[in-house]
Amino acid sequence: MDVSGRTAVVTGAAGGIGAALAAELTTRGARVLLADLDPAVAQTAAGLGQGHWEGDVSSADGVDALLAAARAHLGDVDLYFANAGVGGASGLGDDQDWDLTLEVNLRAHIRAAQRLVPEWTARGAGYFVATASAAGLLTQIGSAGYSVTKHAALAFAEWLSVTYGDDGVRVSVLAPMGVNTKILWGDADNPKTGDALAAQKAVSEAGGVLEPEDVARMVLDSVDREDFLILPHPEVLDMYRMKGSDYERWLSGMRRYQSKLRALAQEG
Ligand SMILES: NC(=O)c1ccc[n+]([C@@H]2O[C@H](COP(=O)([O-])OP(=O)(O)OC[C@H]3O[C@@H](n4cnc5c(N)ncnc54)[C@H](O)[C@@H]3O)[C@@H](O)[C@H]2O)c1
Repeated sequence: MDVSGRTAVVTGAAGGIGAALAAELTTRGARVLLADLDPAVAQTAAGLGQGHWEGDVSSADGVDALLAAARAHLGDVDLYFANAGVGGASGLGDDQDWDLTLEVNLRAHIRAAQRLVPEWTARGAGYFVATASAAGLLTQIGSAGYSVTKHAALAFAEWLSVTYGDDGVRVSVLAPMGVNTKILWGDADNPKTGDALAAQKAVSEAGGVLEPEDVARMVLDSVDREDFLILPHPEVLDMYRMKGSDYERWLSGMRRYQSKLRALAQEG
């Protein structure tokens, strides 16, 4: 889909990948509504000459409010980038961690699609871009919640593509390893330790850490070609093939990798 002259909503757009997606969409001639619960979204949007919505997509009311703002600001929504995400707790997490991670990383995608897909199938056009992660194809060492919700977001995107692809609904899923943003490095005043640090190292040591602007360009090139799977780190495809061809060997390799990362995390 050529995004020039189209309308787009990008969630998680205060900074990081979302802000870079909004900037790339702007460069390519789209009208964009940037959404985030971080008030910095206002400044990011103003810098691009685009509109913003400050709010929380982790509830049905939040997604309703976002789409009402989008309709008021943009009219029909042509593209929806479900990009807001949280890192989730380390290890198994507790119920509260799971609730938040599921709501933001998965249910926000489902709720947006429930509201947009009926109008997209009626019009015969619409584009849903989900930001999952390489963790959605492989796993996330150190965080069950992140791993499971990113698998689920990818599964949901697959299902949307299979079910509505013949009705004009396009779907892409972004599955990067490390990208140089807040979610990867965390908060300098609150440094990661233990499994959270191992989780960070699993991403930052496994391949190059890319800049969000480069990832955004790759995403928009893929949207132009209407590719489903967007892999800014091409080695993820090799890892995924290896997992599919010999699951047992992949699992034992991942356990070995985890031991190495835990040792690295202990060193700090
Ligand atoms: N950075 C990486 O290494 C990496 C790798 C793979 C996938 N991802 C995914 O990329 C996406 C974007 O993350 P990022 O790397 O730009 O990090 P980021 O922390 O800069 O961006 C995430 C944004 O989502 C927003 N957000 C979180 N919960 C929200 C909610 N309930 N409602 C509205 N906004 C909310 C945050 O305020 C933040 O601005 C996430 O889904 C993340 O899981 C990132």
